[in-house]
Amino acid sequence: MIKKGIILAGGYGTRLGPLTKAVNKQLLPLYDKPLIYYPLSVLMLAGISNILIITNKYEKSNFIKLLGDGSQIGIKITFLEQSRPKGLPDAFIIGKNFIGKDDVVLILGDNFFYGQGFTNRLKNALKKNNGATIFTYIVNNPSDYGILEIGKRNKIKKIIEKPFRPKSNLAITGLYFFNHKVINFAKSLKPSKRNELEIVDLLNIYLKKKLLRAEFMGRGSAWLDTGNATNLFNASQYIAAIEERQGLKIACIEEIAYQNKWISKKQILKRINFYGKCDYSDYLKKTF
Ligand code: TTP
Repeated sequence: MIKKGIILAGGYGTRLGPLTKAVNKQLLPLYDKPLIYYPLSVLMLAGISNILIITNKYEKSNFIKLLGDGSQIGIKITFLEQSRPKGLPDAFIIGKNFIGKDDVVLILGDNFFYGQGFTNRLKNALKKNNGATIFTYIVNNPSDYGILEIGKRNKIKKIIEKPFRPKSNLAITGLYFFNHKVINFAKSLKPSKRNELEIVDLLNIYLKKKLLRAEFMGRGSAWLDTGNATNLFNASQYIAAIEERQGLKIACIEEIAYQNKWISKKQILKRINFYGKCDYSDYLKKTF
């Protein structure tokens, strides 16, 4: 069972300019909370409480202001900085000491996952991981993503980054499990034409060794893009619609921590004081 998770929360968020000129993408609002709450809640729902957050150089203090060392929500957060966006596999080079000899989950700091049964699927997949695991999602614009080529009995034949003529509409999402060998595999990669280490190259190493599993997320689940202003706005509306309808919050990290028995009601009161007077605090007051 995997107990460690990395959130990759650097990047320049160029497509979101000018929003991202002074604020990191992962700290922008996705409806009523900072974007990073969503991937953080995915890790917490999976039972992962030892988390490394990788930020851009000089930006980690902003994240610390928000999340501290994690102890107030019963988890352990370590921060490391990436000198520049060198590509997703760089997370394993930066995080090599954090990973050690353990398996690890990587989630991108701007990814939103939601849907009935998602947590169970995640937990089951954690048990089955024997090398690397990816999660795929059906998309309408496959040329924008890393795409699977599938053979008989859902066997993965190939993964191609942003294919001109996609062989399927199954995109690789920003959630991955890896064994500790990922550190050395990441170190062996050469930068691509865009001068980044490519996650697809890393996954193809596991594929060649027959150590890559895919979890196919169905159409009843949501994996939303937050990369440009329109997507970010649409994702906010999606969350607002569900939260308003149910009166329940998506990605309330204190609620998840309490359900996991990582914090007490007393600690939630402290969080209410920390947030001050806002809807999020009102929700915590109402719930606890
Ligand atoms: P991208 O969407 O590839 O990059 P970005 O967020 O900087 O946006 P843009 O393309 O508009 O410039 O990154 C996906 C996620 O991974 C995002 O949360 C940022 C993070 N990331 C890093 O932290 N370090 C990296 O080296 C890369 C490539 C991405």
